[in-house]
Amino acid sequence: MKVIKVKDQVEGGKEALKVFKEALDNGVKVFGLATGSTPETTYDELVKSDIDFSNSISVNLDEYVGLKPEDEQSYAYFMKEHLFNAKPFAKSFLPNGMAEDADQECERYDKLLEEYHVGLQLLGIGRNGHIGFNEPGSSFDGKTHKVALTQSTINANSRFFDNEEDVPKYAYSMGIGTIMKSDTILLEAFGKNKAEAVKAMIEGPVTPEVPASVLQNHPDVVVIIDEEAASLLK
Ligand code: PGA
Repeated sequence: MKVIKVKDQVEGGKEALKVFKEALDNGVKVFGLATGSTPETTYDELVKSDIDFSNSISVNLDEYVGLKPEDEQSYAYFMKEHLFNAKPFAKSFLPNGMAEDADQECERYDKLLEEYHVGLQLLGIGRNGHIGFNEPGSSFDGKTHKVALTQSTINANSRFFDNEEDVPKYAYSMGIGTIMKSDTILLEAFGKNKAEAVKAMIEGPVTPEVPASVLQNHPDVVVIIDEEAASLLK
């Protein structure tokens, strides 16, 4: 893992922009994208930049079950607001939170991910070490699946909702096996509440209990962390 330490999240976004530019220069066509607070400054930088994604494809990591794309809490909506409205891609894909049949939806998304091999995958990390919505205990070989979110994740995500009861309890998530097939992975973590997960990811044993620790087995991972997220590293 290549670890880049930055002062804060704003500087992190600027470093991430460099990684995206390099990927485009190297001919990457498919970008795996993430939602949440973490990538916000990265998307701000992409939007401000002269980057052109009109010949690129995007595939997102996850989506809540039960939310329509027009729902302001959906990840489809988040992506439009933060990136796609300003920087449209040739095609953008997310799991369909309103799919009637969960198994069929997972199969559909996996087929799509086979067709569009991810060149650069952007990731955040949960306080419990999750990547995407692959919660502790998830299989390292996993494909797209419907996940029951852990209480820790529901608590963390409740800040985006009026009431904790409104936070969806399930999501579709790309599996760890698929994430690991990406050519390059860019993981970002900012803030004190990520420090323990970051330490476990980088310095701990590779274990399904810390899903992000699997990245130690990937040959091309860039980690961008701020001082607070790095504060527990040796
Ligand atoms: P956050 O979530 O960016 O909102 O902190 C990251 C994650 O849970 O993967």
